[in-house]
Amino acid sequence: MKNNKIAFVGGGNMARSLIGGLIADGYQARNIWVSDPHAAQRDALQQAFLIHTTGENQEAIAHADVVIFAVKPQILKIAAEDVAPALQKKKPLIISIAAGIREPTLNAWLGGHHAIVRAMPNTPAMVGSGATALYANPQVTKLQHNLAESIMRAVGLAVWVDDEAQMDIVTALSGSGPAYFFLVMEALEKAAVDLGLPAETAHLLTLQTAYGAAKIALESSESTAALRMRVTSPGGTTEQAIKVLQEGNTEELFCAALLAAHRRSTELAELLVAPGILDPSLRSPATLAHPCVAGDQ
Ligand SMILES: NC(=O)c1ccc[n+]([C@@H]2O[C@H](COP(=O)([O-])OP(=O)(O)OC[C@H]3O[C@@H](n4cnc5c(N)ncnc54)[C@H](OP(=O)(O)O)[C@@H]3O)[C@@H](O)[C@H]2O)c1
Repeated sequence: MKNNKIAFVGGGNMARSLIGGLIADGYQARNIWVSDPHAAQRDALQQAFLIHTTGENQEAIAHADVVIFAVKPQILKIAAEDVAPALQKKKPLIISIAAGIREPTLNAWLGGHHAIVRAMPNTPAMVGSGATALYANPQVTKLQHNLAESIMRAVGLAVWVDDEAQMDIVTALSGSGPAYFFLVMEALEKAAVDLGLPAETAHLLTLQTAYGAAKIALESSESTAALRMRVTSPGGTTEQAIKVLQEGNTEELFCAALLAAHRRSTELAELLVAPGILDPSLRSPATLAHPCVAGDQ
């Protein structure tokens, strides 16, 4: 699997993270190609990883078994149509990490009948701790399925979803998720400083606590609710704090936040859909049950 030839169309932040992860994971630099319009960007990638770089998308994809589109969503149509005739001849596996572009839309831009995997990574991929959701269309073979997963695992966790509409929930959860945790950490730090702790001490303790809690949760087979209850002794300090948070409807607030992000994700996807494409994955959020209001479930 690690001998497959991989071409990146777009050599920006995400491509760089993926290439670093792939090489650390045993993929051969000589099998990796990147095309990007910026000479400086290409030189930096070439020097860091000893991979092939080019300014021509056609050259990068020429011998590829996998083509990874790593350009901004608004550029994807131009980039896809540029290489569509060449890809129609060889039909490599296509992986797109562009947020919001649906598989039927990308397939139409590429001329149709392609094996496509949509991947939604998040920013911690840049430090090798990403969380990526993957969706495969029916043309993707078992081998290609494994290959796509192996590629995205190079930068962290990779999980599959069966229904493309779930990618909007993924966007709301893990795509936007790092910002939610930063907000919580920001609030905790500020509260500790307001109570009298030095800023640097509050900062370090907050970060390590967040990291430690995530590490325990990842290493445990128990649910997050069980873990929370385990560290909440009756009559203790944690219980008092949790009571305040629950009275403030924390759960409903996060549910409403994810719903808002989900709604925005589907709105943006609708803007990017190719004309004439009937996209079954686009479901108006207005038709979804509102899960955040008690009594609606
Ligand atoms: N960053 C994240 O955390 C994250 C998370 C999830 C998904 N994604 C998705 O990942 C994709 C890439 O994001 P990124 O942050 O890596 O973007 P980026 O740093 O802007 O990288 C994209 C690169 O592609 C180049 N490019 C532009 N037009 C091109 C073309 N026609 N052919 C080949 N290359 C071209 C860009 O050059 P110019 O600078 O000249 O445009 C740029 O160097 C996006 O679609 C984004 O939605 C990113």
